[in-house]
Amino acid sequence: MLVAINGERRDPERATVSVFDRGFLFGDAVYEVVRTHGRRPFHLEAHLERLRRSGDAIGLDVAALLEPVQRTVAELVAAAPAGEDLMIRLMITRGNSPRLDLLEAEGPPCWVVMVKELEPFPERYYREGLRLLTVRPEEIVSRVAPWVKSNNRQANVMAHRLARERGHDDALFVDPDGHVSEGPTWNLFAVLDGGVVTPPLAGGVLPGVTRGLVLGLCASLGLPHEERPISLEEARRADELFVTSTTRGVMPVGRLDGEPVGDGTVPGPVTARLADGLRRLEAESAAG
Ligand SMILES: Cc1ncc(COP(=O)(O)O)c(C=O)c1O
Repeated sequence: MLVAINGERRDPERATVSVFDRGFLFGDAVYEVVRTHGRRPFHLEAHLERLRRSGDAIGLDVAALLEPVQRTVAELVAAAPAGEDLMIRLMITRGNSPRLDLLEAEGPPCWVVMVKELEPFPERYYREGLRLLTVRPEEIVSRVAPWVKSNNRQANVMAHRLARERGHDDALFVDPDGHVSEGPTWNLFAVLDGGVVTPPLAGGVLPGVTRGLVLGLCASLGLPHEERPISLEEARRADELFVTSTTRGVMPVGRLDGEPVGDGTVPGPVTARLADGLRRLEAESAAG
C-alpha cells in the first residue's frame, strides 16, 4: 500500500488525518476508485471529471487539485511493486473543523491518494453470478444524492450488510416507486426482450465510468440499448442481469432474491459479449 496526503508520501502505518477532518466528522468528502491495466490508470480522465462534478454537487471546488492529484497518482503507480494490477483511491475532504461545527468556515481541503494491489473478487462471482437481494428504502437509511460519489455511504453499507446477513452476495436498491436502480458499488444492466436496458442517470444512479463504456460497446456492437427505468417485475423476468464497476468490469448476476435469472445460464450470451468487449478495451488501454 502506498499513501500520499496532500501530495506528500507517508508510511501507510502512520498515514493519518486529523480527527477534526470533516470527512471523518461529517462524511463531508468526495472520492473516486480507479484501477490500472498494465500499469496504466484506466480512464483516469473520466474519473477526475466525475470527481470534479461530485465536488461541484456538494459545493467543494476541487478543480485546482486535479492536476496535483494526477501527478501524485503517476508517482505512486510508478513506485508500486511491479506485477499486479493496482487499485487507486482518491479522496478530497472539506478540511478541518476544530470547533466541531457543521457550519464552521472550512480550512483548506485535505486530499489523499492510496495505491494498493487490486484484490480479485471471488472467482465464483464470474462463474455462477452474483446472488442479489432486493432492498427497499424502508429497510435502510435514506440514500444521499446517489449521483455524487460522496463519502456519505451509510445506506450502501447497510444494504450490503443486510444482503450478506441473509446469505446473498450483495444488495440491489429498489426505489420508492418500485424501480430497481443500482447496487452499493455498481450499476445494473438487464437484457429484456433482446435489448440491453440500464436505469437512467436521472433516476438516481451514479454515472458509472464502466456503465458509460458498456453503453458505448452496445452501440459499437450493434446491440439495441436503452436507458430507462426498470421495474422490479421486469428485473425478475429479465433474460440476463449483470452489474458493472471499475473493479468488477462486467459481472453476471446468477440469482435475484433466490430465483435464477433467465434460464440460469451464467454468463448469458449478451453479458459474455459485453464482458469480452470490455476486456478488449482494457487490453488496448494496457498496450497504450
Ligand atoms: C453506487 C455506485 N454505483 C455505480 C458504481 C460504478 O461506477 P464505476 O463504473 O465508475 O466504477 C459505483 C462505483 O463504486 C458505485 O459506488
